[in-house]
Amino acid sequence: MKVLVTGGCGYIGSHTTVELAGRGHDVVIVDNYCNSSPAVLSRIASVSGVQPVSYRADIRDEGALRSIITETRPDAVIHFAALKSVTDSWRRPLEYFDNNISGTIVLLQTMRDCGVERLVFSSSATVYGVPDACPINEEAPLRVTNPYGRTKLVMEELIGDLQAADAAFQAAVLRYFNPVGAHPSGELGESPSGTPANLMPYICQVAVGRRDHLKVFGNDYDTPDGTGVRDYIHVMDLARAHADALDSLVGDKGSFTVNLGTGKGYSVLELVRAFEKVSGRTIPLSFNPRRPGDVAACYADPTRAAKWLGWKACLNLDQMCEDAWRWQCRYPEGL
Ligand code: NAD
Ligand code: WQD
Repeated sequence: MKVLVTGGCGYIGSHTTVELAGRGHDVVIVDNYCNSSPAVLSRIASVSGVQPVSYRADIRDEGALRSIITETRPDAVIHFAALKSVTDSWRRPLEYFDNNISGTIVLLQTMRDCGVERLVFSSSATVYGVPDACPINEEAPLRVTNPYGRTKLVMEELIGDLQAADAAFQAAVLRYFNPVGAHPSGELGESPSGTPANLMPYICQVAVGRRDHLKVFGNDYDTPDGTGVRDYIHVMDLARAHADALDSLVGDKGSFTVNLGTGKGYSVLELVRAFEKVSGRTIPLSFNPRRPGDVAACYADPTRAAKWLGWKACLNLDQMCEDAWRWQCRYPEGL
């Protein structure tokens, strides 16, 4: 298949591109590099042995997108391109609405005009907001708590409306929990710009000496050790799920929405201890007040993904830490 990957030079997109190339698909990347670098392309090529076709373009640029799709004639689109920081979305909500929602509308319109009928969409566990209970299944109420989450929910709804209007249009909506880790080669990984908002990249930067200590946000939650519990999922498992989702759409099994998580929650302190064990480094930490908007615990019920896609996360917390650490050591300043 020929697969157009929006945001294909980003963290999850680059790993997915490698997975797709490994399965013999031809990948066409569209990225404006607002949160990545074209240097990722040569890394993808060295890891996968295949140089993906790539275009520097903004998905909101309808003319550019139309000519790329007309020229490359993809069989399907995997849509990663979005702004993704919760904190940043509070500061710049309109930019989030424009980039994520307007960008998705332009993409859907162009796909429709060009007869591309299969979409795999990056959604997020953020659409569940504060869950009533864990593990969270796909029928749980959707109640977003921040502008970034609102863009994901609106995009899910847009895709749902399009499915209702056009039986030929098929979409896989994938709700990721907490993606972490890196390619085992150490050549691809997450490169946050500025201070990392997420736990794993922050720990990595403390371990490599770029930051002096980890601030743990809250140790008074109703969890076994008082710190927040999350469902960390290895980016390689996530990449595999995208290729599986594509296979499922091609198999004409219809549209679906699935959680992508391991089903097991780990606390901040459990992640820190696992990282210390595999890296041999000590992570100095301090306990701080809760971060506004955080929930005590959030982990997936991944049953539907197993049934629907035959997919299950295989890589454990130690492997997530090992691969994140290898990447951080090889490229301490990121890309
Ligand atoms: P990322 O920022 O590393 O990758 C996104 C890529 O899209 C970047 O390369 C960026 O340059 C590109 N991009 C953004 N807006 C664009 C536009 N208008 N036109 C063209 N390219 C554009 O993020 P990621 O972690 O790889 O996340 C990928 C997707 O998964 C996003 O949609 C994100 O919301 C979603 N997601 C991420 C996480 C996470 O924790 N990483 C969790 C749940 C969902
Ligand atoms: C994990 C735990 C923090 C940093 C976010 C988005 C979500 C999704 C995934 C895109 C929490 C604690 C963190 C630090 C800490 N992204 N923590 N010190 O908040 O679960 O999810 O990324 O869709 O939408 O909200 O992930 O990695 O930020 O936090 O103590 O310096 O680590 O309080 O308990 P989160 P995270």
